[in-house]
Amino acid sequence: MTSGAPATPRRVGPVWWDDPVTRTRTPLVIDTDPGIDDALAILLALASPEVDLRLVTTVHGNVELAQTTENALRVLHLAGRSDVPVAAGAGTSLVVPQPERAGHVHGVAGLGGVVLPPSPAAVDPRPAVTALADLLTTSEEPVTVAAIGPLTNIALLLAVYPGAAARIGRLIVMGGSATRGGNVTAAAEFNIWADPEAAAVVLRAGLPTVLVGLDVTLPTVLTAADIARFAAAGPVAAQAAAFLGQYVDHARTAYGTDGVVVHDALALTEAIVPGTLGTVLRDVVVDTGPGAGRGQTLVDRRAASTAPDAVAVAEQVDSEAAVGFLVGRLVDLAGGADRAPQTSGRDTRPSDTIQS
Ligand code: BDR
Ligand code: CA
Repeated sequence: MTSGAPATPRRVGPVWWDDPVTRTRTPLVIDTDPGIDDALAILLALASPEVDLRLVTTVHGNVELAQTTENALRVLHLAGRSDVPVAAGAGTSLVVPQPERAGHVHGVAGLGGVVLPPSPAAVDPRPAVTALADLLTTSEEPVTVAAIGPLTNIALLLAVYPGAAARIGRLIVMGGSATRGGNVTAAAEFNIWADPEAAAVVLRAGLPTVLVGLDVTLPTVLTAADIARFAAAGPVAAQAAAFLGQYVDHARTAYGTDGVVVHDALALTEAIVPGTLGTVLRDVVVDTGPGAGRGQTLVDRRAASTAPDAVAVAEQVDSEAAVGFLVGRLVDLAGGADRAPQTSGRDTRPSDTIQS
């Protein structure tokens, strides 16, 4: 992270969506392990004129790699965008195999028991890191990479194609926790826990990284009423609501709540609208030891950091605005037919101010 970036949460002024036609859409890659909230995040990106989803790379995580790859293809097809290439990445963690998957949260096939029609598209023949490197080195515009699964592919990119990795415009990582403990162990959030060695490499690489962790995702709850607002909008939104049924059931059983946290969709909102979240540059270390703290993100909150490898940690969120943004964009996808990307934004965007 460059040390010139703002070190404290800031008020976000008027931004470019006021004039979307004259702006270049930001090239976007989603590195993902679908996953219910991953599927929502992909649909959110497809519904957003600010970004141009150029590539989806898949990784092990919520379910096995073959299933995350198949799910990515089917979600894109659901939205009429099977033209977006899908390249498969790492099937396991860098060093220690991930101890267990998350089928109890996402359903055994990863999409909450929903079976989507198969896509006519084939998987891109390139390994994910090669597809990523190709895009990063050929894009005229800086590319935003949203990493919403374990960080294995991004760590491999850094190792194999460091020059391409250095061209990442913004890296938005859903993972970790500064103040909220973990969601898979007492200490660790799922994506970091699934490959702590990869996360340790990525979060110390000096890339322009925003870390979107449980501190901002857990307060951002999609309620049954929110889901109902888009469920009836059309076939794509109805499928999105159907994925969430399993998530709602899990939340009710595990936490006794009637709302769900769509972690990855919030990370995508920051990717789509930079500055949605209030961030502070922090030194972040990942616990890669074998003990109870394995996978914990140790975020030094004593002071903002000026180190070149500091990470912008998301610490503030306007959850109501973020939920409204997601719901509005899913309503936009209601048609589901193959269609040209949109050229104008909606008024259901995150507010221009960051809640403090
Ligand atoms: C993260 O873990 C996964 O289960 C979700 O898809 C999200 O990326 C939340 O901890
Ligand atoms: Ca995920």
